Amino acid sequence: MITKPTIDRIMEAIDIAEVIGEFVQLKKRGANYVGLSPFSNERTPSFTVSPAKGIFKDFSSGKGGSAVTFLMEHEKFTYPEALKWLAKKYGIEVEETQESAENREEENHRESLMIVSAYAAKFFHESLLETEEGHNIGLSYFKERGFSNETIRKFELGYSPDQWEAFTGKALKEGYQAQFLEETGLSVKRDNGTMYDRYRGRVMFPIHSFTGRVIAFGGRTLKSDKSVPKYVNSPESDIYHKSNILYGLYFAKKAIRDEDNCYLVEGYADVLSVHQAGIENVVASSGTSLTVEQIRLIGRFTKNITILYDGDAAGIKASLRGLDMILEEGLNVKVVLFPDGHDPDSYVRLVGTNAFKNYVAQNRKDFILYKTGILLKESGSDPIKRAEVIREVVESIAKIPDSIKASVFIKECSHLLEIDERALLSELNKMRLNKARKDAQQATRTIEPADYLPPEELPVERPVKKDESSQEREIVRLLLLYGNRMIDWDGIANTYIGPFMTAELSDVEFEYPAAKKFVDVYSRELENGVLPDEQFFIHYPDKDIVDITVTLLATKYTLSENWYEMHRILVPDEQANMKATILGAIFHLKKHKVGKILDGLRTEIQKADGGPDSDALLAQYLQMKKVERTISDYLGSVIIK
Ligand code: UTP
Ligand code: MN
Repeated sequence: MITKPTIDRIMEAIDIAEVIGEFVQLKKRGANYVGLSPFSNERTPSFTVSPAKGIFKDFSSGKGGSAVTFLMEHEKFTYPEALKWLAKKYGIEVEETQESAENREEENHRESLMIVSAYAAKFFHESLLETEEGHNIGLSYFKERGFSNETIRKFELGYSPDQWEAFTGKALKEGYQAQFLEETGLSVKRDNGTMYDRYRGRVMFPIHSFTGRVIAFGGRTLKSDKSVPKYVNSPESDIYHKSNILYGLYFAKKAIRDEDNCYLVEGYADVLSVHQAGIENVVASSGTSLTVEQIRLIGRFTKNITILYDGDAAGIKASLRGLDMILEEGLNVKVVLFPDGHDPDSYVRLVGTNAFKNYVAQNRKDFILYKTGILLKESGSDPIKRAEVIREVVESIAKIPDSIKASVFIKECSHLLEIDERALLSELNKMRLNKARKDAQQATRTIEPADYLPPEELPVERPVKKDESSQEREIVRLLLLYGNRMIDWDGIANTYIGPFMTAELSDVEFEYPAAKKFVDVYSRELENGVLPDEQFFIHYPDKDIVDITVTLLATKYTLSENWYEMHRILVPDEQANMKATILGAIFHLKKHKVGKILDGLRTEIQKADGGPDSDALLAQYLQMKKVERTISDYLGSVIIK
C-alpha cells in the first residue's frame, strides 16, 4: 500500500487543471476552467474544473471527483495506478508500506522484469536506427513494408542483431541480472550456464502493457525459410500473461474511447498499418484466439467491437463460435471481410487510407446477420441443414444479455431465415430456460448453504424517491460546507456544527445509500478525533462518497435555493442565519421520518381492524403524532421569524 505521507504529498502537488488539461482542452472561465466533456459527445462545454476546490464536474455525464477520480474514470486506472501516475508527473517518490515481505518482493521482482524489458526495447530500437546491420536489414525491411519513421518510433520497433550474444553480452556487462534476462525470455541459457540471444536476426515488436510499459516482444524472422518459425514471442512471465494482453491497446485506448469502437485485427503488422492510416482505435489479439479477459479489457473502453478479417473462408468459419463469447459479455460485434487474400495490412497499402476507410464503413456487417448469411449460403436448400442453421443462429442470440437487443435480432433473422418470428422466439426461450436451469444447478453446487437465502428473505431494495433523498442530501451538503465551523448561536457554545449535527441525527436512519455512507464515515472520523473537511471527502477512496461530495459542492447554491423554496422558507442567505439553516434541515428530515412512521402505523391499524393489537397501535400512533407536532412547532418557532 502507498503510505499516507506519500498520498498527502501527491495531493498537495496536484494541480487538477494541469492534470485534466493533459486529456481535455480547457478554457479559463472566471475562477474555473471549462471544456468539452471527455465522457460524452457534447457540443457545448459543460465539463467544469475548479482548481480552488480540486474537483471536476461533468454535467453531461454526471461524473465528478478529484484528479485521482478523473484518472480512474478516464484512463481506467486503479486507485494505486492513478496515484503512481500523479507521483511520476510531479516527481514524488512513492513510499509503500511493506504489507508483507512477500508482496514487496513480488513487486520488486515484477519491476525488475519490466526494467530489463525497457532496456531491451531501447537496445533493439537503437540497433535498428543506429547500426549498419540494423539499417541494412531491419530498417530496410520495415521501409519496404511501408512503415513510416513516425510509426517505427511510436511503437518502438527494433532489430535484434544476427549474433549469438549481442544483446545478452551487453546487458550482462551493464549489470542486468541473468535471472531476469532468462525469465523475460530475452536470453536463453545453455547447458553449460552461459546465455545467448533468443531473437537473433529478427525485427522486433515490443508489446506494451495498457499503461505503456514494455512487457514482452514478438520477433519476426526475415527469412522465407519455412522451417524457421515466423514469429518468436516472449514466454509467459510474471509481467506477461498473453491472455490478458492486446497488442497496441496502449496506443489505441484514447481513440477507442473517442470513436466508441475498437477494431480487432489478427497481427502486429495489421495494427501498425491500420494505425498508420489514421485509424488508431485498433488492437490485435496476436495469434491467440480471443479470450474473455481480452474482451473485458476492451469493454472497459467501449461496448463496440469491429472485427477486421482477412478473407480466407476457412478461418472465418472456425472463429464464428469464438465470437459468441463477445456477445455473452454484452458487447456488440460487427465484422468486415476483405477481398480474397487480403488482410487489413495488405489492403490498406493497396488502396490507401481513404478507400480503406470507405470500404470498412460500407462493408461493416452485424455479426449475427453475417453469421446467418454465411451459414445459410452453406446449407443451401437441405432442410436438415437449415434447421441446424436456425439453431446455431438462435444460440448466438441467446447469448445476448440484453433482451430488447435480442428481440431485435430475432426479428431481423426471421426475415433472413424466412421463418416465423414466433418460432424463433420459442426456440430462444427454450434455450434461455435450459441455460437458467444449468446456471441454477451450478449455483446450488457452489454456494455454501449459509450464503443461500430463499427469495422471500432477500432484503427488498426499496426505491428512494428523489425528493425523499434530497433531505438527506441536504444534511450531507451542510456537513460538507459548515461541519467544521463553530456554532455561533446562543445556548450552545464551543461546539462545531458537524459533531452537533451528527449527535442530533443519531436516532435517524439514513436511507439514501450515498448519504448513509457519508454520514457513517463522518461519524467514524469524529470518533477518531478528526473533523473531516471538503478535501477529505473529495479524496476519499470510495466512488459513491466522492460523487455525492462533488455533486453537492458543484451545485452548492442551486440545490439549497430549490430546497428552501420547496419548503416555503425564505432565507435569502443561508449563512445569515445558521441556526435556522442547520436546525431547519435537521428537523425537516426528522419530521419526514416521523411522517413515514405514521404512514406505517396507519396501515397497521387498518390491518388490525379493531382486533387485539388495535389499542396498542393507536397509542403508538398518538404518541408519534405528538412528536410530529412538537417538531412542527419547533420548526415554526426557530425558523419562521
Ligand atoms: P500473421 O502470419 O498474419 O502475421 O499472424 P502478420 O503479423 O500479419 O505478419 P506478416 O504480415 O506476415 O509480416 C498473425 C499474428 O499471429 C501471431 C503474431 O502475433 C502475428 O502478428 N503469430 C503468427 C505468432 O505468434 N507466431 C507465428 O509463427 C505466426
Ligand atoms: Mn500480415
